[in-house]
Amino acid sequence: MDPLARYEPLVDDYEAFRATCERPLPTVVRANGIKASVERATAALDEAGVGWRAREWNPDLLELDTDAPGNTWPYFLGWIHGQEEVSAIPPVVLDPKAGERVWDACAAPGSKTTQLAAMMDDRGLVVATDDNLGRLAPLRSNAERLGVTNLAVTHADARHFSLAPFDFEAFDAALVDAPCSGEGTVRKNPSALSGWSESFLDGIAGVQKGILRRAVQATRAGGTVVYSTCTFAPEENEAVLDYVLGEEDCRLVDLDVALESTPGVTEWNGRTFDPSVRKARRFWPHLNDAGGFFCAKLEVGG
Ligand SMILES: C[S@@+](CC[C@H](N)C(=O)[O-])C[C@H]1O[C@@H](n2cnc3c(N)ncnc32)[C@H](O)[C@@H]1O
Repeated sequence: MDPLARYEPLVDDYEAFRATCERPLPTVVRANGIKASVERATAALDEAGVGWRAREWNPDLLELDTDAPGNTWPYFLGWIHGQEEVSAIPPVVLDPKAGERVWDACAAPGSKTTQLAAMMDDRGLVVATDDNLGRLAPLRSNAERLGVTNLAVTHADARHFSLAPFDFEAFDAALVDAPCSGEGTVRKNPSALSGWSESFLDGIAGVQKGILRRAVQATRAGGTVVYSTCTFAPEENEAVLDYVLGEEDCRLVDLDVALESTPGVTEWNGRTFDPSVRKARRFWPHLNDAGGFFCAKLEVGG
């Protein structure tokens, strides 16, 4: 079984897509504004003799000329954090403001949690939830190294998340960076597709639907929910959006990220989806020489 072959009808240049999936990823880190400015972080990289180039669409993202950024002083000091380029998309789309309350429903190991906190100037509240206790330890240590203090970590199944412990009734925004089949991570992990099966897609899609529904319910009217996966499967992307649009009071809105992408698909394997799923974006690896990603932005109704 060659899972990526099923996406040939969705890709503009199938050969370029397959060739890019065979190549390793560039090493990218995010400069952590909580501890150091980009200028300070890049000066430290210069001193360490590590070459860097800032990404045009997001100057906090630096491609490094080393495949071991974790061995550098700026990393140890919490001035930079290893984060795949496409992984930085959802917080940029969510665009949180200092002082807001934001729920990161599938948070571990915390790349996006710490990015959200940095974008909020470490003010307000980020609630980082994950149902995998073992993955919460790296989340905590990343948050500590990066100097994040506006953070509450909770161990819970996001599908049944309770707001009862909090002194507010809804979040301003929520991020669902969902567990998924990970097809878009093959460049980082060539064995990512070894356990692939259609029945896995069906099972994980059920989890994704439940988490996204709860995120919409837990967000105030007028608030934003961002849904993302690192997979290409429409079963886990547009089909999940289509389902939640039918169950909850929310609508898809345009998202603006200065990377190459294609619209969400409205038909797949004989199924059709709500036309508004075209507002979601598919980030194919060959378009940006990065990982594969899917991202959608919802506005909660009311
Ligand atoms: C794609 S990863 C998240 C990566 C993370 N957002 C980051 O940027 O570092 C998905 C996460 O969802 C968690 N997860 C899976 N099922 C969950 C559930 N029902 N409730 C909460 N978290 C869940 C997994 O343990 C995993 O850590």
